[in-house]
Amino acid sequence: MQSSELREKYLKFFERKGHKIIPSASLIPENDPTTLFTSAGMQPMIPYLLGEKHPAGVRITDSQKCFRTQDIEEVGDSRHTTFFEMLGNWSLGDYFKKEQIAWMFEFLTKEAKLNPENIYVTVFRGKEAVGIPIDEEAAQIWIEQFDKVGINAKVVDFSEKNGMQGGRIFYYDETKNWWSRAGITENMPVGEPGGPDSEMFWDFGVDLEIHENSEFKDSPCHVNCDCGRFLEIGNNVFMEYIKTEKGFEKLKNKNIDFGGGLERIATAKLNIPDIFLIDIFEAIKSKIENLSGKIYGQDSKETKAFRIIMDHLRAATFLIADGAFPSNKDQGYFTRRLVRRAIRFAYNLGINKEFCSDIAKEYILVYANSYPYLKEKEKQIIAELIKEEEKFNLTMQNGLKEFEKLQNISGKDAFNLYQSYGFPIEITKELAKEKGIEVDVEEFEKELGKHQDLSRTASAGMFKGGLADHSEQTTKLHTAAHLMLAGLRKVLGDTIFQKGSNITAERLRFDFTYPEKMTSAQINDVEIFVNGIIEKDMPVVCEEMPIEKAKELNAMGVFESKYGQIVKVYTVGNDHEIASREICGGPHVEHTGVLGKFKIQKEESSSSGVRRIKAVLE
Ligand code: SER
Repeated sequence: MQSSELREKYLKFFERKGHKIIPSASLIPENDPTTLFTSAGMQPMIPYLLGEKHPAGVRITDSQKCFRTQDIEEVGDSRHTTFFEMLGNWSLGDYFKKEQIAWMFEFLTKEAKLNPENIYVTVFRGKEAVGIPIDEEAAQIWIEQFDKVGINAKVVDFSEKNGMQGGRIFYYDETKNWWSRAGITENMPVGEPGGPDSEMFWDFGVDLEIHENSEFKDSPCHVNCDCGRFLEIGNNVFMEYIKTEKGFEKLKNKNIDFGGGLERIATAKLNIPDIFLIDIFEAIKSKIENLSGKIYGQDSKETKAFRIIMDHLRAATFLIADGAFPSNKDQGYFTRRLVRRAIRFAYNLGINKEFCSDIAKEYILVYANSYPYLKEKEKQIIAELIKEEEKFNLTMQNGLKEFEKLQNISGKDAFNLYQSYGFPIEITKELAKEKGIEVDVEEFEKELGKHQDLSRTASAGMFKGGLADHSEQTTKLHTAAHLMLAGLRKVLGDTIFQKGSNITAERLRFDFTYPEKMTSAQINDVEIFVNGIIEKDMPVVCEEMPIEKAKELNAMGVFESKYGQIVKVYTVGNDHEIASREICGGPHVEHTGVLGKFKIQKEESSSSGVRRIKAVLE
């Protein structure tokens, strides 16, 4: 079964169960203050999981493009990829555990036609200290599902020492069976939603050969073992809690958040424990074989290089298409890192001519039907890859020679490799690890700090995923951002468009198109405009309407609708004056009088043709 067929089957299956199919959101979250990338299907859904009404209803399904920076260096094994598609189905206060587990089992066994004998599941053991009970209900529902296909599923409380114990349903603790964007219960900030989850695993085979040849051979194998015998293929999150000052409380709605990797389910379907053997990678693998004269799967080092190239250039293709061009900052830094890491490993395979754009072309063909916009952006993707590859090729070989001369790597050396040879620090670290030497990363950071203010480092400390929070203060600043955009357009003209924003409880950061520095008089005028609207205490009204209507009303916003045809439009205004009108997911205050005093603290360049404002409410 082709991956595209699997995607289609999944979406159609949930459509038959009353779900609306919505398109994937961008890999680069729009107006999301807290994260560089969409790294889980639930990320664009956060406001709705917290109780906002979704324009598409209470049952939604999608296949969301995801990119996980934390997995870059994991890539090379049989199952990690930085880019993947996450199949998702969502109940926003509608159905819950019983339906979810039954439907998921039906989908996997009847639609994807996976043999139930090879499916194992985990459920939450509970955590008394925070008042979350053991999920016996989910275990019971799973027992019934397995029973229907003649499997007597034994429930086992997992322990490291005892391994599988003939079980099929395992209780694990919160490190494995609790989902929130911030991980386990203690780490969750106030306002963060989360809940127990139930994961599903595919068993590639009962012969333990994989396990016995792995670094985990000294302890018994189990479903969450990383030896490669089992592959997690999906996670049913029963999202019904929210962290509050007092601990955990129930969310207004009981929600379902299901996420399952399309490529992983396809790998289970193939029943060979190597994600890079699914159809998506086939043409690309042949291309690399032709370029290198090497064969995939013959030598473990070479196989790792193949996988890195296949993964990284797929991710880079999608990232560039969504606007993350290779650069030294923010999202672009990751695109750069991926492309350069791919080039370095291609060099190890003996490829010493330009190849990145050829690989991208193959991917554009592979995804011609599922993601036709890649074809539309082909020229740009190719141009960016060629540019980046030429840049790195000019210096990489000399950089590698330079590296070979070093016995240990001081911060200054690492900085020199970065500055003169274009080696991202992560590449230097990886090369050092291969050679068994240390890098003084702290000193490197200091050197770097001396030379430039790399805003990417700020992202490392960012809270991962969705909106920062829906606190009152963040909401106020969000409304203030709308008023500011309206003010900027009044003062600077209607060539001003928003390029991104980042809003926390403390301040708003806002990027917009404008080629020059604003004068202090202009800044002052924008402040006067915004504070004027605040003084008028205008109502903020939300309406849902078809995208065409929003366009007619001159609402600002992104017109490639992410959410299907019905959009939410927030209007600030009264009978005499419309101060601002934007397509937006919310949330916003109800009237502007509550905002306080608006002040612009800083106006600076963000990138070429883009300015950045930092502003607060006093
Ligand atoms: N939020 C869960 C995950 O990302 C399920 O969608 O794994």
